[in-house]
Amino acid sequence: MERKWWQKVTVYQIYPRSFQDSNNDGIGDLKGIISRLDYLEKLGIGAIWLSPVYSSPNDDNGYDISDYRNIMKEFGTMSDMEELIDEANKRGIRIVMDLVVNHTSDEHSWFIEAKKSKDSKYRDYYIWRDPIDGSEPNSLKSCFGGSAWQYDEQSGQYYLHFFSPKQPDLNWENPEVREEVYDMMNFWIDKGIGGFRMDVIEMIGKQPDKMISSNGPKLHEYIKEMNQKTFGNHDLLTVGETWGATPDIAKLYSDPERNELSMIFQFEATTLDQIDGKPKWFTKPLDVLGLKHVLSKWQTCLEDRGWNSLFWNNHDLPRAVSQYGDDGIYRIESAKMLAIVLHLLKGTPYVYQGEELGMTNCKVEDISEVDDIESRNMYFEEIEKGTPKEELINRINRKGRDNARTPMQWDGTENAGFTKGTPWLHVNANYHTINAKACLEDENSIFYTYKKLIDYRKKNDIVVYGDYEMVDDVPDDVFVYLRKYRGQMLLVCANFTNEFRRINLDKFGRQTSFISNYDEGVIDLSSKVLKPYEAFAIEVK
Ligand code: NOJ
Repeated sequence: MERKWWQKVTVYQIYPRSFQDSNNDGIGDLKGIISRLDYLEKLGIGAIWLSPVYSSPNDDNGYDISDYRNIMKEFGTMSDMEELIDEANKRGIRIVMDLVVNHTSDEHSWFIEAKKSKDSKYRDYYIWRDPIDGSEPNSLKSCFGGSAWQYDEQSGQYYLHFFSPKQPDLNWENPEVREEVYDMMNFWIDKGIGGFRMDVIEMIGKQPDKMISSNGPKLHEYIKEMNQKTFGNHDLLTVGETWGATPDIAKLYSDPERNELSMIFQFEATTLDQIDGKPKWFTKPLDVLGLKHVLSKWQTCLEDRGWNSLFWNNHDLPRAVSQYGDDGIYRIESAKMLAIVLHLLKGTPYVYQGEELGMTNCKVEDISEVDDIESRNMYFEEIEKGTPKEELINRINRKGRDNARTPMQWDGTENAGFTKGTPWLHVNANYHTINAKACLEDENSIFYTYKKLIDYRKKNDIVVYGDYEMVDDVPDDVFVYLRKYRGQMLLVCANFTNEFRRINLDKFGRQTSFISNYDEGVIDLSSKVLKPYEAFAIEVK
């Protein structure tokens, strides 16, 4: 496989609303991001995935776009955006835009026109159906709860929205829609961006009359067309958000010979804590053996054709250390352990803002503190049904999307240095101890574990291209894997528990670790007692 820049970089995800406010209106903005580029350069990342910054009424915090060619007022101006692209490029950091084209906002001019008249050319940009027996055309559900169909009084028809009613789905069957999207993508490519993260891209081939939402029959045809008409001739990173991808589907997207995408985000590991067949809110304890098998499956299935993305969390998921580690007494150890495990796998790693500080979930006591539309919809639907408030708040504290969206914790001053105004979402009270300033001043901090791993990847092709192999003869909740490349071998070992665990890997004997979350140095692998959440990596001699 031809080598690409995006195989070697580490990507950092910014949720702009929560990253850095520069004008003290309580909302993060582009100038704020620019002011923090030196911090990101220090961390060593090579690209930023920027969650949406386009004009939006913010029903779903920017994932409802009303103008793809303009910047959200609260975030700044197009010239700020150009400055961001420029300043980032100067530091060797490329900007990956969030491409949200499964749907627009209902305040997008296309939808406003579509609603005005059935004869408008824009009507067919969206998906309209007549009522059946006086109600919804079928039983398709919105990902945010309730029906996926919204009734429009004026025309007497329903339109499709797989997310909120303020996010009507675009009709990808219409070639004009596809051309509009490609034009818009080229507008951004011409501005010098580094690629696209593609929001719920697996849904663009939907066939609502056949009850198909994801992985529709024309999906790959559309992606190939998009590739050919936009980024195909540019050296860009493209990553599709695909909740329903299996390994075979992942190969369709990321096999370079098929000319589709660089890679996808698949979510199998992140959903292992869910009770089968139930919504995301119903959870069970982490099954480490299951996690090892899922990670291993994805490492091996894309070995020859295709490419993996590597991530623990994002703006829709709980904080990594809260979900997979221990956000109490072993917060630092377990956050470093998660970094070591992920960053030495094969694929492109993604760091979600604050993960490099070990930021944690943030508990609320009442729904009035919750901003996230998904959590709020679930809460009010369930309250109607009589589910106790305490149970619902527990669910939100465990899985709600605001956990990842509380403001970035820069220092110990008011509002964690995020804003001098009133933050749009509460700051996690632990910012006095968990913040970037404290991390930067402590050479043993989580930040420097990330930095070291990111630098190591840059300098060592074995991390980027080496083969992967899981080591079996260890306790179920200890994860050991090997990477092999041109006669070299790496061994990575991680204890996923808050207890001691013994491993006996006789054939490796005494080795020296190059990174560890306890003390680095000589380790006797033939008889080693791992401390709680202990993790290390070795260049096997
Ligand atoms: C996936 C995004 O990551 C999420 O934040 C958003 O709500 C939905 N897609 C709808 O755009």
